[in-house]
Amino acid sequence: MKIVLRIGGSILGSPPDSATVLAYASIIHKLIEQGNEVAVVVGGGKIAREYIEAARSLGLSRSAQDSVAIQASRLNARLVGLKLGAPSVPTSVGGMVSRLRKRRIAVMGGLKPGITTDTVATLIAEAWHSDALIKASNQDGIYTSDPRTDKSARLLHKVSYQRLVEILGGTHSPGIHSIVDPVAVEMIAKQRIRLIVVNGERPENVLDAVEGRAVGTLVS
Ligand code: UTP
Repeated sequence: MKIVLRIGGSILGSPPDSATVLAYASIIHKLIEQGNEVAVVVGGGKIAREYIEAARSLGLSRSAQDSVAIQASRLNARLVGLKLGAPSVPTSVGGMVSRLRKRRIAVMGGLKPGITTDTVATLIAEAWHSDALIKASNQDGIYTSDPRTDKSARLLHKVSYQRLVEILGGTHSPGIHSIVDPVAVEMIAKQRIRLIVVNGERPENVLDAVEGRAVGTLVS
């Protein structure tokens, strides 16, 4: 299977937690041993948000705020890539896909202002014709509304593309906190990309998702 694995910066820790990086490296190696190919897309986490805040306080543009956050995600990607034996971090979709044609693993971070690494992962999924996009997030899956602010929010195990857009559609803003960013949501729905959102605090959830066990939220 061709798998795009998007690891949230909030899961990796800021700076990255070595035990978490190690746990993901072992899961990814297992996936490769099983014959899968894995495109890993890593987020920038808390440090990215701190850089966004610094850039905002300096009166820099939204695009400049995004650009410093992109560098933070690339630094995280470099660390994860070094541990996985794929140290060079592509900075374009074409670069990532051509690396994936030569090797069974590649790691990248951010791409361009105006999006998040959810959209980067979606662009890779589309260009590489992946079988599944898995997001390792800091929530158990997609809820009927934001569980951090709405106590009555319910976890959904299966979601249609239309419902995904109803719940999570919208527009981008730097440092946005959404289980899947609104730009990615629109693309996933349009391209009918199979998405599984799992709680990445338990890295084994990624294996469960790939092996077809019920975990998190399946969007299909
Ligand atoms: P990330 O995608 O790095 O978030 O975007 P994250 O840390 O993994 O977030 P969680 O864990 O899913 O919550 C952080 C910010 O970096 C900028 C945007 O401002 C985004 O909100 N960014 C990131 C871009 O502008 N372009 C990119 O390609 C990636």
